[in-house]
Amino acid sequence: MKTRITELFGIEHPIIQGGMHYVGFAELAAAVSNAGGLGLITALTQRTPEALANEIRRAREMTDKPFGVNLTFLPSLTPPDYPGYIRAIVEGGVKVVETAGNNPQKWLPVLKDAGIKVIHKCTSVRHSLKAQSIGCDAVSVDGFECGGHPGEDDVPNFILLPRAAEELEIPFVASGGMADGRSLVAALSLGAEGMNMGTRFIATKEAPVHEHVKQAIVAATELDTRLVMRPLRNTERVLKNAAVDRLLEKERALGSKIKFEDIVAEVGGVYPRIMQDGEMDAGAWSCGMVAGLIHDIPTVKELIDRTMREAESIIARRLAGFMAA
Ligand SMILES: Cc1cc2nc3c(=O)[nH]c(=O)nc-3n(C[C@H](O)[C@H](O)[C@H](O)COP(=O)(O)O)c2cc1C
Repeated sequence: MKTRITELFGIEHPIIQGGMHYVGFAELAAAVSNAGGLGLITALTQRTPEALANEIRRAREMTDKPFGVNLTFLPSLTPPDYPGYIRAIVEGGVKVVETAGNNPQKWLPVLKDAGIKVIHKCTSVRHSLKAQSIGCDAVSVDGFECGGHPGEDDVPNFILLPRAAEELEIPFVASGGMADGRSLVAALSLGAEGMNMGTRFIATKEAPVHEHVKQAIVAATELDTRLVMRPLRNTERVLKNAAVDRLLEKERALGSKIKFEDIVAEVGGVYPRIMQDGEMDAGAWSCGMVAGLIHDIPTVKELIDRTMREAESIIARRLAGFMAA
């Protein structure tokens, strides 16, 4: 399949693995790239720029296909060493960066000077247009269904994607709720030129996370996610668990007086305990509604191959069949 996204990134299939904290290590990024998609290492999971440089080297040993790095700009009083991370990306010869979380304008010149393609992930048409106006090469349009941070507008992809298509000139991929060939064809129909998957890629053999996390995703239905931190305007879609119940109870009790410090036990630094140690109730962790569509733990290659087979069959048979009638 050839789209502006496959052309832009030099990949075989229009499928991207979104950056994921404590999931997007070299193993997963390389597996996705080896299977013909675009794998992404998550920069901030690496504690230092030196550690990111090492992770980039590890990925390069595992694949000779293009892969990228996700750089998430967090609201933070003591920001991470972004210049250092960017130096590691540039010196590591990485050719694609997924930015997210905030406007990447400040960092674009150095990335562009290094010949790096930038895809900005955002949750609204206005932020997509902003990304286009500052020179991003593509956007990843993250609908309300998505795992992680859906923003505060709550517009699901059935509306958000065609709205993005109405306004954008640069290519975009659909993100949030994407699981299989049906998702890909739907995304293409709505104007996207590919799809970005997060949660789906966690439930794969190569995802370097504890088996409990994969099993939790397979066991979950589309009814099992919750939105947390909405009162802090930092909404995150997470899988319901004991910590999330506690967190939501605090939100109810404290109302608009709630501060980040009140919920730090449920959200601060919990990812290693969940993703690596498999302590499933240690805190709130991002998970999309798409969990309801995830019933197995294939290899990344099986997942991508069957997604492409299914998409091609839907286009060539199911949809063409309607036309022939
Ligand atoms: C466990 C997890 C961690 C994530 N961490 C990040 C992150 O650090 N930075 C980021 O930009 N997006 C992050 N995301 C969002 C994904 O990159 C992607 O946009 C989202 O998962 C798409 O929705 P889906 O889960 O329905 O596929 C995370 C998602 C999950 C499920």
